[in-house]
Amino acid sequence: MSRSAHPAGPRHADVLPEGHYSAPPADLNHLDPHVWSRTVTRNDDGAVEVGGIDVRDLAAEQGTPAYVLDEADFRARCRAWRAAFGKDADVFYAGKAFLSRAVVRWLHEEGLDLDVCSGTELAVALDAGMPADRIAMHGNNKTPAEIDRAVAAGVGRIVLDSFQEIVRVAAAAERHGRRQRVQIRVTVGVEAHTHEFIATAHEDQKFGIPLAGGQAAEAVRRVLKLESLELVGIHSHIGSQIFDMSGFEVAARRVVGLLGEIRDEHGVQLPEIDLGGGLGIAYTSADDPAEPHQIAKSLTEIVTRECEAAGLDLPRLSVEPGRAIVGPTAFTLYEVGTVKPLEGLRTYVSVDGGMSDNIRTALYDAEYSVALVSRRSDAEPMLSRVVGKHCESGDIVVRDAFLPADLAPGDLIAVPATGAYCRSMASNYNHALRPPVVAVADGQARVIVRRETEEDLLRLDVG
Ligand code: LLP
Repeated sequence: MSRSAHPAGPRHADVLPEGHYSAPPADLNHLDPHVWSRTVTRNDDGAVEVGGIDVRDLAAEQGTPAYVLDEADFRARCRAWRAAFGKDADVFYAGKAFLSRAVVRWLHEEGLDLDVCSGTELAVALDAGMPADRIAMHGNNKTPAEIDRAVAAGVGRIVLDSFQEIVRVAAAAERHGRRQRVQIRVTVGVEAHTHEFIATAHEDQKFGIPLAGGQAAEAVRRVLKLESLELVGIHSHIGSQIFDMSGFEVAARRVVGLLGEIRDEHGVQLPEIDLGGGLGIAYTSADDPAEPHQIAKSLTEIVTRECEAAGLDLPRLSVEPGRAIVGPTAFTLYEVGTVKPLEGLRTYVSVDGGMSDNIRTALYDAEYSVALVSRRSDAEPMLSRVVGKHCESGDIVVRDAFLPADLAPGDLIAVPATGAYCRSMASNYNHALRPPVVAVADGQARVIVRRETEEDLLRLDVG
């Protein structure tokens, strides 16, 4: 990368990503059901409704920006995953995608388990009444206090991520007079086709214990020697926003390979395999994710085939989808503040949020779509970039999008598929107040995470 100053051309650093739609969609008013949550429709006024509520009413009552979460869609996705995997498998929702007490209660009611990766995610889960034995505790550097809390609460499994942690969890279990169920997270050496920051199963990164060089086998030896630990399985998570199942195939083969080695060396067959999360969703109409029943079928077939080949009984399978459940269920509702046409380039549409409520575009080059939602428009398409109100030019929410040319300040626009890793990665940059999460269902809107206030920020700033 050149670090010297140079005159910027008119389209400096401004190349449309390969494969990105270069022509405007046929109808700017159309809301692609792959990208928008299930109950989203346009009403007779031309405004968008979700959960039976007009977004103009939502904006008036809750303010903008706001994350609007379609509860019926969330529950339907939980049910679809639960049904797809059946009673011989477990579906752990990955709380890092988005966690709140209401979500925990919905998960509990819909029969899902929960994966947490910090003591505070665990606190939310327990506070909302998730039974501890349905919680899995993750993390590559769980603190002694977090381990202690998880063991004391009686979590169903702790996923061990390092040699040091084996000793720490064993000691905590001993102190509490428990035999803690554990899995070992291994890195299988798969390069998943995703952004580097969210790919996790190649070896040169911080998570898990490599299968390579016999390291995972050594971790198994150490765990099996410890009375206070019950080794129940092997865990692998290969990355995020993955569409190609071949990475899971290689991962399953290698994990099953390790189960075979464990049987041969120790005479025990571990009863569980967890293949992690990472299933992709549609952020734009160009994305075509698989349905839960296809994913379940494919993963079950892979594991069954590999176990048969290795002469192993079929272990209990679990998965940990986060994004695939919550991602498509929410959109972010913004009000347009300024519309700035740049001659020969594009129009910059500034909204009242930005990288503080959606860091994914800046961090991962993520692509999003956007639509005018407060009214219908038959104006010409206008090549636009939706940007926030923060003090840097990388503050981009939607890099390339078409919006109607009559877009004006005061219009409401919405960015779909922001249920995962947006509120959970939100920041207070420029002292932005993090937006609320408003759940909508059956004509009712319910704030499940309230908007931050100036008082919240000032309370933290103790002078
Ligand atoms: N299980 C484990 C062990 C994980 O580390 C993760 C995600 C998941 C499950 C859930 O993955 P999902 O199904 O949601 O893809 N902030 C990034 C994603 C980071 C994911 C980290 N681990 C993003 O915004 O794309």
